[in-house]
Amino acid sequence: MTPRHSRITGTGSHLPPRRLSNADMVTLLAGRGIETSDDWIVERTGIRARHFADDGVSASDLALPAARRALEAAGRRAEDVDLIVVATSTPDMVFPSTACLLQAKLGVHGCPAFDVQAVCSGFVYGLAVADAMIRAGSARCALVIGTEVFSRILDFDDRTTCVLFGDGAGAVVLEASATPGILACELHADGRHAGILCTPGTVSGGRVLGDPVLKMDGQAVFRLAVGVLESAARSVLGKAGRTEADLDWLIPHQANIRIMQGTARKLKLPLDKLVATVDEHGNTSAASVPLALDVAVRDGRVRPGDTVMLEGVGGGFTWGAVLLDF
Ligand code: UT7
Repeated sequence: MTPRHSRITGTGSHLPPRRLSNADMVTLLAGRGIETSDDWIVERTGIRARHFADDGVSASDLALPAARRALEAAGRRAEDVDLIVVATSTPDMVFPSTACLLQAKLGVHGCPAFDVQAVCSGFVYGLAVADAMIRAGSARCALVIGTEVFSRILDFDDRTTCVLFGDGAGAVVLEASATPGILACELHADGRHAGILCTPGTVSGGRVLGDPVLKMDGQAVFRLAVGVLESAARSVLGKAGRTEADLDWLIPHQANIRIMQGTARKLKLPLDKLVATVDEHGNTSAASVPLALDVAVRDGRVRPGDTVMLEGVGGGFTWGAVLLDF
């Protein structure tokens, strides 16, 4: 039997048009009697702007153009897709899944479609799941999407979190291939740290009870993120029999430029091998990695044959890495 691997054959992304600069956030927060500054946000995070979806625009609405662009890049039609995995923590509804709603918007039916909930590691989790299903022979042409409307769960009275996040969607088409493609994946979680990054409202009888906005102990998340991004990268390289020197691109979760550059330095990678979009997108949670990948593919940095490390880290606490030849 031909050995079965998976390979990314197309990427796509979509940002809602409403862009808020740091200056816009300063004005927005000043209206609530809260002080922040462009200097603070840039110095501590590297973020200069983020995009917010308009009222009524949902995660599946953002996912649709991203998915269509990825399909177009892969030379595929929606009818060719036999698996849809959507990573999101801001789904359209309690249920059905955002993946099912997206499937309907794509105008197709029948193939399995489900959501993955691993917060900012969600896309890496979804990609690893789709890779495993393709290698097992359960799918041949998967759409894997990260999509978020994090603006809906932000507390605009909490300056320590609301300036950090944005909305957007990124997608890839992952297809069965005789050659890899995806070289190795690694997923982790440690639920003991659930409280350091969470939206603790509970769903009861279809209603959200309690506190439905994001809470984060930024310093605790920062400390954990720096350690796990390095260890996951080394571990996935080891699994694939590769070394740091083989990496053409590092595309980590886009939360904070200091964490991203710290990871690159620990891996002894020159900073020009780090793809950073956090300056223009902010932290888009599960969408951040596929958004950054699509930007780097479309601007010609990531080219066929390049070796790319994707890394996620976030609430749960969750983290993971996928190493691939593009
Ligand atoms: O997506 C999942 C992964 N998430 C992450 O990776 C986030 C990880 N954490 C971080 O990126 C950083 O911890 C933050 C960006 C969230 C915070 O940066 P920090 O360097 O850890 O700042 P801090 O929390 O220690 O706060 C320093 C000061 C505080 O003032 P005092 O107590 O020293 O007087 C804050 O009140 O900065 C103040 N501060 C702000 N000042 C102006 C916090 N937020 C703001 C703000 N504007 N927006």
